[in-house]
Amino acid sequence: MRFTTSAILAILSALGSAVTPPSIDGYSIVWKEEFWGGAGDSVSSSNWDAVLGINTNNDIQTYTDSNSNVQISGGGTLQLVPQKSDAGIWTSARLESTGSWTPAAGKTTRAQGNIRFGSNSQSTKQGMWPAFWMLGDSIRSGTGWPMCGELDLMETVNGLPTAYGTAHCGTYPGGVCNEPTGKGNAVALNDYDWHTWSMEWDRTSNNWSSETITWYLDGNQFHQITGSGVGDEAIWGTLAHSPMYFILNIAIGGDWPGNPNDATVGGYGAMMEVAYVAVYQK
Ligand SMILES: *[C@@H]1O[C@H](CO)[C@@H](O)[C@H](O)[C@H]1NC(C)=O
Repeated sequence: MRFTTSAILAILSALGSAVTPPSIDGYSIVWKEEFWGGAGDSVSSSNWDAVLGINTNNDIQTYTDSNSNVQISGGGTLQLVPQKSDAGIWTSARLESTGSWTPAAGKTTRAQGNIRFGSNSQSTKQGMWPAFWMLGDSIRSGTGWPMCGELDLMETVNGLPTAYGTAHCGTYPGGVCNEPTGKGNAVALNDYDWHTWSMEWDRTSNNWSSETITWYLDGNQFHQITGSGVGDEAIWGTLAHSPMYFILNIAIGGDWPGNPNDATVGGYGAMMEVAYVAVYQK
């Protein structure tokens, strides 16, 4: 086996920095994935499906379950790594959690992950679209998008220093979530280092219209939606009262980022690396 310098650096720095889900005062951990295993291993197939053959936004990647696109680092992290073949074909990966979690009535539920990006410069990331997000489990039994509900903890495009948290819901186009825009907000992301992305459902009011979903970057709030802002109890229920599952992926090209250009490069410098994903409840 031959390692490139960047591969060795990626492994070494992963070994030095893997973070596990912190304990948070008053909360218990309902579920966690810490991505332990040997370098090059596949993720746990009881926890994750590597989903193939999805191109929902005119994105151009071929998703694979090859360990050149999705692997355990050996240092307690997951690495999603876009690759471009000599023939110019882009491959990448999309993991979906097999489990789904429902924010419990009367409680606060938090979804959280710790993520960094490959250190290649922004000028080499045209077309990259990494995301940490959730979809309503009802889509697995035939409910359409966006009625199933979608909550994006974090998306970035083209390596730009901005990330987005967004809810999609209701009918398309338009509807209470203003599709296809959704109800979202942007936050500055000035480096590719490790950051904690969290989303919290607060159902402690026992009144759907005053319930909230709040987005945080490193504990700082950057977006919030409320039941009353959505204004429809059934549609709010698809975002806040129903089971949702996690997705970790790097799409390439498509409607939002636009396609890669000649300067876009794959490999570890373009990866999304995930130290953990966890669900908490208080
Ligand atoms: C529920 O919350 C809404 C929005 O905050 C408020 O207007 C309404 O009075 C509340 N209903 C009850 C029964 O407390």
